[in-house]
Amino acid sequence: MSAPRASSPPRAIESPAELRQRIAQARRDGKVIGLVPTMGALHEGHLSLVGAARRECGFVVATIFVNPMQFGPDEDFTRYPRTLDADLRLLAGRGADVVFAPATESMFRPGHATYVDVGGVANCWEGQYRPGHFRGVATIVLKLFNFVQPDRAYFGRKDYQQSLVVRRMVEDLDLPIHVEVCPTVREADGLALSSRNRYLSADERRRALAISKSLRLAKQLVERGTRDAATIITRMQGMLAAADLNIDYIALVEPESLDSVAVLDRPTVAAIAARVGKTRLIDNELIG
Ligand code: PAJ
Repeated sequence: MSAPRASSPPRAIESPAELRQRIAQARRDGKVIGLVPTMGALHEGHLSLVGAARRECGFVVATIFVNPMQFGPDEDFTRYPRTLDADLRLLAGRGADVVFAPATESMFRPGHATYVDVGGVANCWEGQYRPGHFRGVATIVLKLFNFVQPDRAYFGRKDYQQSLVVRRMVEDLDLPIHVEVCPTVREADGLALSSRNRYLSADERRRALAISKSLRLAKQLVERGTRDAATIITRMQGMLAAADLNIDYIALVEPESLDSVAVLDRPTVAAIAARVGKTRLIDNELIG
């Protein structure tokens, strides 16, 4: 006989009807409902969101769904890591009350033809390099919001543009949901945690460090008095190129509008998307 476990992993709920039942009960019990949407392959970044939800909500729903609609035809949907059993064990330790892991067919049924298109902050960066990505994100997030009807929903600053897109949607569609954006969790050496880090070889992992390093460089340059955005971007480019990374974009922008900043005389977000071999990584930092 095996020894009893301290806490047994929550079972994944696949059925939307069962999910609704569990949430209805929590709501009858007067609990504040918190939602943490994920695509699984969980790491400490995801778990920090669950931790924040646990602290602030009486009932925490984590969702795991690799959403086909937000991947482009040449992207990594089929090879995206799927680690449900390990994810459930991790979530047990962090106190998710319910894990919703629906099958693709129950989220997108034949004939699906309704999409959420956010404009404005969704147009640049990922919107440009991954056409249709935010349409897929916004559509699935709204569906999850409808299933769960959370009081609070938790997103990571790591996907900074995504957090703005979700906030825009919540504001524009009058959703009665508080969106909480939590800090980026990093490895000790600075690399932002990402499910896609699993793709990196040892050599690529070393080179990928140039991304967070160049964000730190930008911060230092500003702290030492550099104000010219073009100068900072050139230095960042140099660091990324030296590590043999292919840059999709480096941007210094106003944090709410994502408009480019030419002179850093105000709080500015620095954002990077770069490819290390076949793996595309993104990261950002508030600088200035
Ligand atoms: P996924 O990439 O699994 O991320 C789920 C949530 O975890 C997102 O809000 C993301 O910003 C956050 N996150 C990822 N890495 C993090 C880190 N290092 N520190 C803090 N938070 C981090 O983002 C998605 O899934 C999907 O687009 C989703 C919103 C689930 C819609 O399908």
